[in-house]
Amino acid sequence: MYFCDMAEELNINKTLSKQELYEEAIPQIKALIGTEENLVANLANITAALKQFFGHFWIGFYLVDSDDELVLGPFQGPIACTRIKKGKGVCGATWEREKTIIVPDVDKFPGHIACSGDSKSEIVVPLFDEKGNCKGVLDIDADYYEAFDELDQKFLEELMSAIKW
Ligand code: SME
Repeated sequence: MYFCDMAEELNINKTLSKQELYEEAIPQIKALIGTEENLVANLANITAALKQFFGHFWIGFYLVDSDDELVLGPFQGPIACTRIKKGKGVCGATWEREKTIIVPDVDKFPGHIACSGDSKSEIVVPLFDEKGNCKGVLDIDADYYEAFDELDQKFLEELMSAIKW
């Protein structure tokens, strides 16, 4: 059997605290994408690695497709809506504001777009290229309330800054 050169296993210790798990995950994911130039491959591996580390319900990217629309990118989880207008939903609002949005209860976010009724809380992080242009968002949904906080924001923003555009 031939193992691809990405066959290294992620070292995941599920007994760790959320902060400790991020401290383990971020360097490994940066190493995973650090030698690959292809954007789609890196986005795909980021979602897969975050899923393996944290197991959230839905983890994926929406990328800027035109002046006023995001299009679905690589993701892990149930099928999802493919296009989101600027300013609409949590993703469209994150793109418009260019700031991370943490949603403790999706039912209390005006205009939340529910790709699944199982989604209860969410964090959406903007993606910027080297020139500071917003290129899209990372969207993570949990199937329980108040899953995300400033700790997630800190580490996810750090990871997003490692993406090569
Ligand atoms: N909840 C997002 C839409 C994307 S699905 O959750 C994957 C929003 O409100 O923008």
